[in-house]
Amino acid sequence: MDKKALTDSLYFRHACKLFDEKKRIPKDDLDFILEAGRLSPSSFGMEPWYFNIIQKQELKEVLRPACWDQPQITSCSELLIITAKVDAPARREYYEKMFARREMPEEMLEKYLTVYKQFIDNLHSVYGWTARQCYIAAANMMSYAAMIGVDSCPIEGFEKDKVEEILGLNTTKEQVALIVALGYRVNEAPEKKRLAFDEVVRFL
Ligand SMILES: Cc1cc2nc3c(=O)[nH]c(=O)nc-3n(C[C@H](O)[C@H](O)[C@H](O)COP(=O)(O)O)c2cc1C
Repeated sequence: MDKKALTDSLYFRHACKLFDEKKRIPKDDLDFILEAGRLSPSSFGMEPWYFNIIQKQELKEVLRPACWDQPQITSCSELLIITAKVDAPARREYYEKMFARREMPEEMLEKYLTVYKQFIDNLHSVYGWTARQCYIAAANMMSYAAMIGVDSCPIEGFEKDKVEEILGLNTTKEQVALIVALGYRVNEAPEKKRLAFDEVVRFL
């Protein structure tokens, strides 16, 4: 892999504020981006996410006021709403299935199940934990999108309750973690502003 090209794609990615409404992401490219989400790491391998792709323009229009009226919501090609599972990771039939697929000895499986149960029972909020996994998937998808010239904008500026109501979600099962708008920029990206390497990296 060409390191320079990979770093260039990190510079290419920016929080795109306005997308070209006439340009659509080809199905193949969208699937490529979604695969980066599906293959993302998650704590204990629980994959506590759904990747919901909003393609209907009418639905984007309804969602926009609940998302601080941000133009990315209606101008993007695909609006990705990542929802975090909130009950399945605490249900034994779910997590047992997730561990069992790793084909480990029975004794080790039992150990995993015990440790995991203790962990999940002590969580302050399952949503708080699973939403964090969704952010990892989102980051991978945005990086992959940038590698193939697709722009994105992560969006935390939304009224969670309203978005969930519009989507008709059963919030005892899943809740909105993060929104990512995907498409093609209209304007040039502003210059990247980042703290210097030495200000954020520590070798200890
Ligand atoms: C979790 C998260 C939530 C964000 N929410 C919004 C948002 O609601 N609207 C927006 O325009 N940008 C949003 N951003 C974009 C950031 O403002 C942007 O990534 C940051 O200023 C750095 O700029 P760059 O991504 O263009 O390099 C969000 C970024 C992250 C990581």
